[in-house]
Amino acid sequence: MFEELEIAKNKCAECQKCPLHKTRTKMVFSDGIPNTKLMLIGEAPGYYEDQQGKPFVGRSGQLLDKIFESVGLSREKDIYICNTIKCRPPDNRNPLPEEKLACREYLDIQLQTLKPKIILLCGAVAVQSLLPDITSGITKIRGQWFNGPNGAKMMPIFHPSYLLRNPSHEVGKPKWLMWQDIQEVKKAYDELT
Ligand code: URA
Repeated sequence: MFEELEIAKNKCAECQKCPLHKTRTKMVFSDGIPNTKLMLIGEAPGYYEDQQGKPFVGRSGQLLDKIFESVGLSREKDIYICNTIKCRPPDNRNPLPEEKLACREYLDIQLQTLKPKIILLCGAVAVQSLLPDITSGITKIRGQWFNGPNGAKMMPIFHPSYLLRNPSHEVGKPKWLMWQDIQEVKKAYDELT
């Protein structure tokens, strides 16, 4: 059923469309289950992701797992996780526009094959890729629903690395806002199933 995804993954492992292939250890295609209604799109693989070939396995990923677990969602059962680009940029810099363009075909295949009903745009890089006309910063638009591909609902959420830098749980702070957003996501998810 998801043969197209497998073909894209194998092609991506051999991909040399941008210079990042020269410095990657492993290409990072996705994690979680493919038959899901919920997709999360992050920015780009970091050090640990590049080593293991899996998205969100470092400190940011551990926090992300906790955030999902707090509303009873897990990677193993409920979420398909990927990034805007599949190879690690040196020193974890933001992906360059030409890298995002070169890698876009893989993200498009993921979106077209899975047709997720809910898409979470995790951080500013993912927002720029899927909502290129939005100029407001993530702080303004997080927690709002936007129209996505194939009738999906898309919500920008803070990137967990931002939450690691802003650890306060106080009302109104980024972590507190994230917990409001994830509850809204769970509500929408439950309405689908
Ligand atoms: N940050 C991301 O955006 N993606 C990852 O896979 C890991 C860290």
